[in-house]
Amino acid sequence: MNLIERNPTLREMLATGRTVAGNGESIALSSFLDGTSAEALFRQVTSLRPAVVVEVGMANGISTLAILSALEANGAGRLISVDPNQSTQWRDSGRTAVKRAGLAHRHTVMEEPDYLALPRLLEAGTKVDLSYIDGWHTFDYALVDFWYLDKMTPKDGVVAFNDCGWPAVAKAIDFVLSHRRYAEFGVGLPKAYARPHGLRSLLSAIRHGRVGEYFLQRQDRYFRKLEAWEPAHDFYARF
Ligand SMILES: C[S@@+](CC[C@H](N)C(=O)[O-])C[C@H]1O[C@@H](n2cnc3c(N)ncnc32)[C@H](O)[C@@H]1O
Repeated sequence: MNLIERNPTLREMLATGRTVAGNGESIALSSFLDGTSAEALFRQVTSLRPAVVVEVGMANGISTLAILSALEANGAGRLISVDPNQSTQWRDSGRTAVKRAGLAHRHTVMEEPDYLALPRLLEAGTKVDLSYIDGWHTFDYALVDFWYLDKMTPKDGVVAFNDCGWPAVAKAIDFVLSHRRYAEFGVGLPKAYARPHGLRSLLSAIRHGRVGEYFLQRQDRYFRKLEAWEPAHDFYARF
């Protein structure tokens, strides 16, 4: 059974383009993961069977429902969602969708920014088998998300990024591939997004043998950790 068949709340949200706020009011969905990427995320969680998943960026809760539906299908695992704006900008719609779908028992929301929540998870000794990075999409925030999540990710764990066609996210991924040991793997998503051009980033793509990615990106990209490795203190690589 796929995600849409499994989760009537999500099916209704994607079909109507609307969801329900914490006060019961109907509101429009915005800034959410498309159905194809949500199905791919659901498939990954069912096949990887993670004990702990962290997502950065919850919004109306589409990715949240995809992950939780898969954990429920697995019969194990929990999701921690980090989003400082859940009760304000998003009017508790993500939390409400999770409750409506009957999945709250596998879910924790940390309503604070990534740069405060992720160090606390690290300090608590959290191990994260799968991360989904879809928060504030500037290079620094995407990098901070990866930097902390990598420290909590064991070998063979997976880190995924949304909106990989955005130049700032693509640049953060260039860091992943040049400063850590991760390998990208396909999850059946088509390449659909052009990365904006610029001579410097084109030269960088040529230097790293990634010209194809420069011109066309998948919206979501998945990376498996090959080993826990960090460069020496005097390492430098252009990326
Ligand atoms: C593109 S939306 C997430 C969409 C969601 N993953 C989905 O599939 O419906 C980006 C989210 O990042 C959140 N965000 C913004 N700044 C953040 C920060 N510093 N830390 C964590 N999340 C942040 C926003 O509140 C917003 O919910």
